[in-house]
Amino acid sequence: MKVLIIGSGGREHAIAWAVRKSPKVEKIFCAPGNAGIAGIAECVNIGAMEFDRLASFAKENGVDLTIVGMDDPLVGGIVDVFEAEGLRVFGPSKRAAVLEGSKAFSKDLMKKYGIPTAGYSVVRSADEAREALKSVSYPVVLKADGLALGKGVLICENEAEALAGVREIMEDRKFGSAGDRMVIEEFLEGREVSVLSFVDGKTVKPMPSAMDHKRAGDGDTGPNTGGMGNFSPSPFYTPEIDAYCREHIFQKTVDAMAAEGRPFRGVIFFGLILTSDGPKVLEYNARFGDPEAQVVLPRIENDLIDVIEACVDGRLEDVDLRVSEDACLCVVLASEGYPLKYEKGFPISGLDTFRDEDGEFVFQAGTAFDPEGRVVTNGGRVLAVTALAPTLKEARAKAYAAAERVTFANKYMRHDIGHAIDEA
Ligand code: AMP
Ligand code: GLY
Repeated sequence: MKVLIIGSGGREHAIAWAVRKSPKVEKIFCAPGNAGIAGIAECVNIGAMEFDRLASFAKENGVDLTIVGMDDPLVGGIVDVFEAEGLRVFGPSKRAAVLEGSKAFSKDLMKKYGIPTAGYSVVRSADEAREALKSVSYPVVLKADGLALGKGVLICENEAEALAGVREIMEDRKFGSAGDRMVIEEFLEGREVSVLSFVDGKTVKPMPSAMDHKRAGDGDTGPNTGGMGNFSPSPFYTPEIDAYCREHIFQKTVDAMAAEGRPFRGVIFFGLILTSDGPKVLEYNARFGDPEAQVVLPRIENDLIDVIEACVDGRLEDVDLRVSEDACLCVVLASEGYPLKYEKGFPISGLDTFRDEDGEFVFQAGTAFDPEGRVVTNGGRVLAVTALAPTLKEARAKAYAAAERVTFANKYMRHDIGHAIDEA
């Protein structure tokens, strides 16, 4: 079988790595890919938003299955374009990807179907927002409706901050048309947990839980990022909480989407918060997380192609998802200054010291080849050093030791990924 993966980050490297283990797969293409993915797949220089070119490529090269890693093409309707061409593709249709593409849609869906989430209102103009802010308590959360690279969420401590946030999102249009509408949401407190799950339109099979570290600095300080590290499982996501979420959140969401005429096929990423009042949904994503995929996929024992094909064919019910007992932790090595301003183009050394059989992996994100063929930094999040071990603490020690072996000029990482493990 020939597989095409769409995307260029650490998540797509992890997907390609998992796909390569399938005995069914003879060839992997990745568009556009990166220097790490190039080690296991043929990278194709077509952008993730060039749907027609991608579909033509898939046809001309006899691609049997396309896996879409990124949110932008999914929300933009890549799956519909591929399906119209008779191509097999894993990911939600445009009508279903709105679960991530519009926060107003997802909040209204949760309200309509009684799925636990924070109280909220949706506003369509800055004036409407200022009016609504007269009757909220602080802190309050402002969310641009559309996709904003995970940066369209503002937590405002007081009215002055909230009014500045309204200006930023709805008047200055910092996030472009993502700010046409805005969600004003109740602030919730608790531990956050991510649960990625396979969905075939009616059945949902959750993958093991994970815990992200969104802030750039140690001690959860500094600006929000795409994620600086992750581990799986979360010790706070107990079997009781899991049972509750399966019944009241996961299955209800899948049923709600089907009832709305938007059956969801692909991966739903449930961003949850464990409040004193029970688990609630903070957000939905319509894809694997990055870097959640880097710690969850190494723990899945099934052939990933089998699970994905079952989703595409609507027979996920028959799949027994098997999860390794080992824990997994990844530390993102970034360029100093990320997510704001950073330099790139520095050679990376130590990448050849990793062996799958040692349970140590490097999933590359912002990397490229320079004219001499060396692997150099090419983005904010450069790569994720990932380790599997019997316990979370061992995985953490192993990942940090391995992270020392990878060097480049402006290497930056958090030193406290997994700090919550010590509080469990
Ligand atoms: P989101 O992109 O919706 O996941 O939001 C990004 C981050 O903002 C989340 O991971 C939380 O840390 C925080 N956040 C979002 N919504 C809320 C909320 N209602 N209460 C508290 N924190 C929130
Ligand atoms: N790591 C968070 C995300 O992928 O959205």
